[in-house]
Amino acid sequence: MDTSQFIQLTRRPRRLRQSVAIRNLVEETQIHTKDLVQPLFLMSGQNTKEDIPSMPNIYRLSLDLLLYEVEDCLKLGIQAFAPFPYLPDHEKDHLATRSVQEDGLYLNAIRMLKQKFPEICLFTDVAMDPYSSDGHDGIVENDEILNDETLVVLGKMALAQAQAGADFVAPSDMMDGRVGYIREVLDQAGYHKVGIMAYTAKYASAFYGPFRDALQSAPKFGDKKTYQMNPANSQEALVEAELDFLEGADMMMVKPALSYLDIIQKLSQNFNIPIAAYNVSGEYAMLKAAAQNKWIDGDRVAHEILLSIKRAGAKVIFTYLAKEFAARS
Ligand code: PBG
Repeated sequence: MDTSQFIQLTRRPRRLRQSVAIRNLVEETQIHTKDLVQPLFLMSGQNTKEDIPSMPNIYRLSLDLLLYEVEDCLKLGIQAFAPFPYLPDHEKDHLATRSVQEDGLYLNAIRMLKQKFPEICLFTDVAMDPYSSDGHDGIVENDEILNDETLVVLGKMALAQAQAGADFVAPSDMMDGRVGYIREVLDQAGYHKVGIMAYTAKYASAFYGPFRDALQSAPKFGDKKTYQMNPANSQEALVEAELDFLEGADMMMVKPALSYLDIIQKLSQNFNIPIAAYNVSGEYAMLKAAAQNKWIDGDRVAHEILLSIKRAGAKVIFTYLAKEFAARS
């Protein structure tokens, strides 16, 4: 071979891509099943499983089936779960009363889950929307979402969930001051070991559509823009993060994930507690729709999506892809 044809290049990045072995050695990011949190949709009834058309392979499950689902996931190595309750409209009211009902759907499920599977890490959702006849995360008065009045409800919910066995209560409501308020309520009741995973930078996003189908929890009027963040803003996420950190959050979440990778990176570079990201329902729906049409290779794209979220700086990833990822690993 005539080597004179080669140009002089001191640095050839392709050397590090020459073989599987080398690529493996220099790989910077890996996704493990144990990074993932599986969201679950819970409904009342027995042996009941309902499709969510916009979320293929994800179902609303009655508690008996939900327990089997968790067992399946555990066998695959998933250790963390985030259940959300589905309530029919006639059980919803302005004050989200069912959210603190001792023998209600959600608290019962938390108790059962921790009793059957004490080893799991359970993130419970603190927000009014699944139980609210207004479909909002806070108390509504004259079309306004009240902040401080809502904190009282959230505090009660968080305490009830802690008593039922939550490892982390996860306020997803975006009211001001809720992390500090919840921390105080928990501590006063002696639940200093129960953590807070704050939905810190939660944007007013159109990517939540399929989730709202799943829970039939879409706002009955208006939108969530007076409490969830403007997708145009990033500095504001640092303000939210600073507050949540000072108020005692143990983990801070960015949500959605994919259109907000810059926010994940920003928080992870500025705060030394674990950053979580929620790969939300609409992101899942887009992936599944394209994959079903065979327009993309769904498995590979799923892996790439999860990698991007972790590479951006998320330690913990809430994703509807958890189970299928675990099954492939
Ligand atoms: C509301 C809540 C939402 C999600 C989780 N908790 C939606 C909303 O704010 O309306 C969305 C999750 C997803 O889209 O997967 N407390």
